[in-house]
Amino acid sequence: METVSTVAALRTRVRAWRGAGERIALVPTMGALHAGHLSLVVLGRAHAERVVASIFVNPSQFGAGEDLAAYPRDDARDAAMLEQAGCDLIFAPGRAEMYPPGFATGVRVAGLTDCLCGPARPGHFEGVAQVVTKLLNQAGADFAVFGEKDWQQLAVIRRLARDLDIPTEILGGPVVREADGLAMSSRNRYLDPAQRAVAGGLNKAIFAAAGRIARGAPAAAEMAAAAAALRAAGFDEIDYVECREADSLAPVGTFDAARPARVFAAVQLGRARLIDNVPVGVPVGMAP
Ligand code: PAF
Repeated sequence: METVSTVAALRTRVRAWRGAGERIALVPTMGALHAGHLSLVVLGRAHAERVVASIFVNPSQFGAGEDLAAYPRDDARDAAMLEQAGCDLIFAPGRAEMYPPGFATGVRVAGLTDCLCGPARPGHFEGVAQVVTKLLNQAGADFAVFGEKDWQQLAVIRRLARDLDIPTEILGGPVVREADGLAMSSRNRYLDPAQRAVAGGLNKAIFAAAGRIARGAPAAAEMAAAAAALRAAGFDEIDYVECREADSLAPVGTFDAARPARVFAAVQLGRARLIDNVPVGVPVGMAP
Protein backbone atom coordinates (compact mmCIF):
# COMPACT_ATOMS: atom_id res chain seq x y z
CA MET A 1 0.00 0.00 0.00
CA GLU A 2 1.41 3.31 -1.10
CA THR A 3 1.43 6.64 0.76
CA VAL A 4 1.32 9.89 -1.22
CA SER A 5 1.62 13.39 0.20
CA THR A 6 0.65 15.64 -2.70
CA VAL A 7 -2.71 16.40 -4.26
CA ALA A 8 -1.17 15.84 -7.70
CA ALA A 9 -0.05 12.29 -6.81
CA LEU A 10 -3.44 11.53 -5.23
CA ARG A 11 -5.24 12.66 -8.37
CA THR A 12 -2.94 10.64 -10.62
CA ARG A 13 -3.78 7.42 -8.69
CA VAL A 14 -7.51 8.20 -8.62
CA ARG A 15 -7.55 9.01 -12.34
CA ALA A 16 -5.90 5.69 -13.19
CA TRP A 17 -8.43 3.73 -11.14
CA ARG A 18 -11.33 5.63 -12.62
CA GLY A 19 -9.93 4.99 -16.11
CA ALA A 20 -10.04 1.28 -15.30
CA GLY A 21 -13.73 1.60 -14.41
CA GLU A 22 -13.18 1.42 -10.65
CA ARG A 23 -15.10 3.40 -8.03
CA ILE A 24 -13.29 5.14 -5.19
CA ALA A 25 -14.19 5.66 -1.52
CA LEU A 26 -12.39 8.22 0.63
CA VAL A 27 -12.05 7.77 4.41
CA PRO A 28 -10.84 11.05 5.95
CA THR A 29 -9.06 10.62 9.31
CA MET A 30 -6.67 12.40 11.62
CA GLY A 31 -4.73 9.17 12.25
CA ALA A 32 -4.39 7.55 15.70
CA LEU A 33 -6.61 4.89 14.22
CA HIS A 34 -8.80 2.38 16.04
CA ALA A 35 -11.34 -0.26 15.06
CA GLY A 36 -13.95 2.45 14.44
CA HIS A 37 -11.85 3.92 11.62
CA LEU A 38 -11.19 0.49 10.16
CA SER A 39 -14.93 -0.17 10.03
CA LEU A 40 -15.18 2.93 7.81
CA VAL A 41 -12.57 1.46 5.47
CA VAL A 42 -14.58 -1.77 5.32
CA LEU A 43 -17.76 0.22 4.59
CA GLY A 44 -15.95 2.16 1.86
CA ARG A 45 -14.73 -1.10 0.36
CA ALA A 46 -18.31 -2.42 0.32
CA HIS A 47 -19.25 0.48 -1.98
CA ALA A 48 -16.14 0.89 -4.08
CA GLU A 49 -13.29 -1.09 -5.63
CA ARG A 50 -10.67 1.28 -4.19
CA VAL A 51 -10.33 2.92 -0.78
CA VAL A 52 -8.18 5.95 -0.03
CA ALA A 53 -7.64 6.95 3.62
CA SER A 54 -6.42 10.44 4.34
CA ILE A 55 -4.39 11.17 7.45
CA PHE A 56 -4.09 14.84 8.31
CA VAL A 57 -4.26 16.39 11.78
CA ASN A 58 -6.06 19.52 10.68
CA PRO A 59 -4.90 22.52 12.71
CA SER A 60 -7.83 24.70 11.66
CA GLN A 61 -10.36 22.58 13.59
CA PHE A 62 -8.55 22.84 16.94
CA GLY A 63 -9.37 25.80 19.17
CA ALA A 64 -6.97 27.69 21.41
CA GLY A 65 -6.21 25.50 24.42
CA GLU A 66 -7.30 22.31 22.65
CA ASP A 67 -5.07 19.27 22.12
CA LEU A 68 -3.51 19.96 18.68
CA ALA A 69 0.10 19.62 19.93
CA ALA A 70 -0.73 16.54 22.02
CA TYR A 71 -2.96 14.85 19.45
CA PRO A 72 -1.69 11.26 19.18
CA ARG A 73 0.30 10.42 16.05
CA ASP A 74 1.40 6.93 15.05
CA ASP A 75 2.00 6.82 11.29
CA ALA A 76 3.61 3.36 11.09
CA ARG A 77 0.89 1.70 13.16
CA ASP A 78 -1.84 3.55 11.23
CA ALA A 79 -0.39 2.37 7.89
CA ALA A 80 -0.20 -1.25 9.05
CA MET A 81 -3.81 -1.14 10.30
CA LEU A 82 -5.08 0.44 7.07
CA GLU A 83 -3.30 -2.10 4.91
CA GLN A 84 -4.77 -4.93 6.98
CA ALA A 85 -8.26 -3.43 6.59
CA GLY A 86 -7.97 -3.38 2.79
CA CYS A 87 -7.07 0.25 2.15
CA ASP A 88 -5.35 0.89 -1.23
CA LEU A 89 -3.72 4.27 -0.69
CA ILE A 90 -2.89 6.70 2.12
CA PHE A 91 -3.02 10.41 1.40
CA ALA A 92 -0.92 12.10 4.10
CA PRO A 93 -0.37 15.72 3.11
CA GLY A 94 1.78 18.10 5.11
CA ARG A 95 0.43 21.39 6.38
CA ALA A 96 1.95 23.38 3.50
CA GLU A 97 0.25 21.13 0.95
CA MET A 98 -3.14 21.76 2.57
CA TYR A 99 -2.70 25.39 3.62
CA PRO A 100 0.02 27.00 1.45
CA PRO A 101 1.07 30.58 2.16
CA GLY A 102 -1.73 32.93 1.18
CA PHE A 103 -4.51 30.43 1.87
CA ALA A 104 -7.59 32.56 2.57
CA THR A 105 -10.82 30.60 2.09
CA GLY A 106 -13.22 29.53 4.83
CA VAL A 107 -16.31 27.32 4.75
CA ARG A 108 -19.12 27.91 7.25
CA VAL A 109 -22.27 25.86 7.53
CA ALA A 110 -24.86 27.98 9.35
CA GLY A 111 -27.52 26.65 11.71
CA LEU A 112 -26.33 23.08 12.23
CA THR A 113 -23.20 24.38 13.92
CA ASP A 114 -24.97 26.65 16.43
CA CYS A 115 -25.90 23.85 18.85
CA LEU A 116 -24.34 20.84 20.63
CA CYS A 117 -20.52 21.07 20.20
CA GLY A 118 -20.68 24.37 18.29
CA PRO A 119 -20.84 26.83 21.21
CA ALA A 120 -18.20 24.98 23.26
CA ARG A 121 -15.76 24.71 20.33
CA PRO A 122 -15.85 28.04 18.46
CA GLY A 123 -14.38 27.68 14.98
CA HIS A 124 -14.23 23.89 15.16
CA PHE A 125 -16.87 23.12 12.56
CA GLU A 126 -15.54 25.86 10.25
CA GLY A 127 -12.19 24.06 10.39
CA VAL A 128 -13.80 20.69 9.73
CA ALA A 129 -15.89 22.11 6.86
CA GLN A 130 -12.81 23.76 5.37
CA VAL A 131 -10.61 20.66 5.40
CA VAL A 132 -13.36 18.25 4.36
CA THR A 133 -14.33 20.47 1.42
CA LYS A 134 -10.69 20.40 0.35
CA LEU A 135 -10.34 16.63 0.81
CA LEU A 136 -13.53 15.95 -1.15
CA ASN A 137 -12.34 18.17 -4.00
CA GLN A 138 -8.82 16.77 -3.91
CA ALA A 139 -9.87 13.10 -4.05
CA GLY A 140 -12.88 13.41 -6.35
CA ALA A 141 -14.09 10.11 -4.86
CA ASP A 142 -17.48 8.53 -5.50
CA PHE A 143 -18.05 8.03 -1.75
CA ALA A 144 -16.67 9.52 1.43
CA VAL A 145 -17.17 7.76 4.75
CA PHE A 146 -17.44 9.42 8.18
CA GLY A 147 -18.22 7.96 11.60
CA GLU A 148 -21.63 8.49 13.19
CA LYS A 149 -19.98 9.03 16.57
CA ASP A 150 -19.41 12.58 15.33
CA TRP A 151 -23.05 12.86 14.27
CA GLN A 152 -23.11 16.66 14.18
CA GLN A 153 -19.95 16.66 12.03
CA LEU A 154 -21.61 14.17 9.68
CA ALA A 155 -24.70 16.39 9.42
CA VAL A 156 -22.49 19.41 8.65
CA ILE A 157 -20.59 17.48 5.97
CA ARG A 158 -23.77 16.18 4.32
CA ARG A 159 -25.07 19.74 4.18
CA LEU A 160 -21.89 21.27 2.76
CA ALA A 161 -21.61 18.56 0.10
CA ARG A 162 -25.22 19.23 -0.92
CA ASP A 163 -24.96 23.03 -0.75
CA LEU A 164 -21.67 23.19 -2.66
CA ASP A 165 -22.68 20.58 -5.30
CA ILE A 166 -19.83 18.26 -4.42
CA PRO A 167 -20.67 15.06 -6.31
CA THR A 168 -19.35 12.67 -3.66
CA GLU A 169 -21.92 10.56 -1.80
CA ILE A 170 -21.49 10.93 1.96
CA LEU A 171 -21.84 7.69 3.95
CA GLY A 172 -22.15 7.37 7.73
CA GLY A 173 -20.56 4.41 9.53
CA PRO A 174 -22.13 3.11 12.78
CA VAL A 175 -20.45 3.86 16.11
CA VAL A 176 -18.05 1.09 17.13
CA ARG A 177 -18.04 0.47 20.88
CA GLU A 178 -15.75 -1.13 23.44
CA ALA A 179 -17.05 -4.06 25.53
CA ASP A 180 -18.60 -1.66 28.09
CA GLY A 181 -20.22 0.42 25.35
CA LEU A 182 -17.71 3.29 25.35
CA ALA A 183 -17.63 4.73 21.83
CA MET A 184 -14.19 4.23 20.29
CA SER A 185 -12.25 7.48 19.96
CA SER A 186 -8.62 8.44 19.48
CA ARG A 187 -9.03 10.61 22.60
CA ASN A 188 -9.90 7.61 24.82
CA ARG A 189 -6.17 7.06 25.19
CA TYR A 190 -6.03 10.21 27.34
CA LEU A 191 -8.01 8.34 30.05
CA ASP A 192 -6.21 6.80 33.02
CA PRO A 193 -7.57 3.46 34.35
CA ALA A 194 -9.86 5.10 36.93
CA GLN A 195 -11.25 7.53 34.34
CA ARG A 196 -11.62 4.70 31.83
CA ALA A 197 -13.82 2.86 34.35
CA VAL A 198 -16.03 5.95 34.70
CA ALA A 199 -16.17 6.54 30.92
CA GLY A 200 -18.34 3.47 30.29
CA GLY A 201 -21.17 5.24 32.13
CA LEU A 202 -21.65 7.79 29.35
CA ASN A 203 -23.26 5.47 26.83
CA LYS A 204 -25.30 3.74 29.52
CA ALA A 205 -26.85 7.04 30.65
CA ILE A 206 -27.83 8.13 27.15
CA PHE A 207 -29.07 4.70 26.03
CA ALA A 208 -31.27 4.62 29.16
CA ALA A 209 -32.62 8.13 28.51
CA ALA A 210 -33.22 7.32 24.82
CA GLY A 211 -35.19 4.22 25.83
CA ARG A 212 -37.47 6.20 28.15
CA ILE A 213 -37.96 8.99 25.60
CA ALA A 214 -38.91 6.36 22.99
CA ARG A 215 -41.62 5.17 25.41
CA GLY A 216 -43.04 8.71 25.68
CA ALA A 217 -41.15 10.36 28.55
CA PRO A 218 -40.61 14.11 28.07
CA ALA A 219 -37.08 14.73 26.78
CA ALA A 220 -36.33 17.67 29.10
CA ALA A 221 -36.89 15.64 32.28
CA GLU A 222 -34.84 12.75 30.90
CA MET A 223 -31.98 15.05 29.96
CA ALA A 224 -31.90 16.53 33.47
CA ALA A 225 -31.93 13.04 34.98
CA ALA A 226 -29.17 11.83 32.66
CA ALA A 227 -26.98 14.85 33.48
CA ALA A 228 -27.46 14.20 37.20
CA ALA A 229 -26.59 10.51 36.70
CA LEU A 230 -23.42 11.46 34.81
CA ARG A 231 -22.37 13.88 37.53
CA ALA A 232 -22.96 11.19 40.17
CA ALA A 233 -20.97 8.68 38.09
CA GLY A 234 -17.87 10.90 38.31
CA PHE A 235 -17.73 12.88 35.06
CA ASP A 236 -15.95 16.18 35.71
CA GLU A 237 -18.12 18.44 33.61
CA ILE A 238 -21.28 17.88 31.57
CA ASP A 239 -21.18 20.08 28.45
CA TYR A 240 -24.59 18.94 27.22
CA VAL A 241 -27.06 16.07 27.21
CA GLU A 242 -29.75 16.82 24.65
CA CYS A 243 -32.39 15.11 22.56
CA ARG A 244 -32.52 16.44 19.01
CA GLU A 245 -33.89 15.48 15.62
CA ALA A 246 -31.38 13.37 13.73
CA ASP A 247 -31.29 15.42 10.51
CA SER A 248 -32.14 19.02 11.42
CA LEU A 249 -30.69 18.81 14.97
CA ALA A 250 -33.82 20.72 16.14
CA PRO A 251 -34.65 20.15 19.83
CA VAL A 252 -37.16 17.39 20.63
CA GLY A 253 -39.86 17.82 23.29
CA THR A 254 -41.52 14.42 23.08
CA PHE A 255 -40.54 11.74 20.60
CA ASP A 256 -42.52 11.34 17.37
CA ALA A 257 -41.58 8.11 15.57
CA ALA A 258 -42.09 9.87 12.22
CA ARG A 259 -39.14 12.16 13.01
CA PRO A 260 -35.95 10.22 13.86
CA ALA A 261 -34.26 11.59 16.96
CA ARG A 262 -31.07 10.98 18.90
CA VAL A 263 -29.72 11.69 22.37
CA PHE A 264 -26.39 13.52 22.25
CA ALA A 265 -23.88 14.08 25.06
CA ALA A 266 -20.51 15.71 25.58
CA VAL A 267 -18.60 15.47 28.85
CA GLN A 268 -15.16 16.25 30.14
CA LEU A 269 -13.25 13.49 31.93
CA GLY A 270 -9.70 14.46 32.89
CA ARG A 271 -7.96 15.55 29.68
CA ALA A 272 -10.52 13.90 27.43
CA ARG A 273 -13.62 15.52 25.98
CA LEU A 274 -15.90 12.57 25.23
CA ILE A 275 -18.90 12.75 22.92
CA ASP A 276 -21.48 10.12 22.08
CA ASN A 277 -24.96 9.84 20.58
CA VAL A 278 -27.56 7.11 20.33
CA PRO A 279 -30.83 6.74 18.43
CA VAL A 280 -34.21 7.11 20.11
CA GLY A 281 -36.59 4.29 19.31
CA VAL A 282 -34.15 1.69 18.00
CA PRO A 283 -33.53 -1.30 20.31
CA VAL A 284 -30.07 -1.44 21.87
CA GLY A 285 -27.87 -3.74 19.80
CA MET A 286 -29.66 -2.73 16.61
CA ALA A 287 -28.51 0.88 16.69
CA PRO A 288 -27.77 2.04 13.13
O1 PAF B 1 -13.45 13.15 12.29
C1 PAF B 1 -12.26 13.45 12.04
O2 PAF B 1 -11.32 12.68 12.29
C2 PAF B 1 -11.95 14.81 11.45
O3 PAF B 1 -12.80 15.79 11.95
C3 PAF B 1 -11.96 14.82 9.91
C4 PAF B 1 -13.35 14.51 9.36
C5 PAF B 1 -10.95 13.80 9.39
C6 PAF B 1 -11.56 16.22 9.40
O4 PAF B 1 -10.29 16.57 9.85
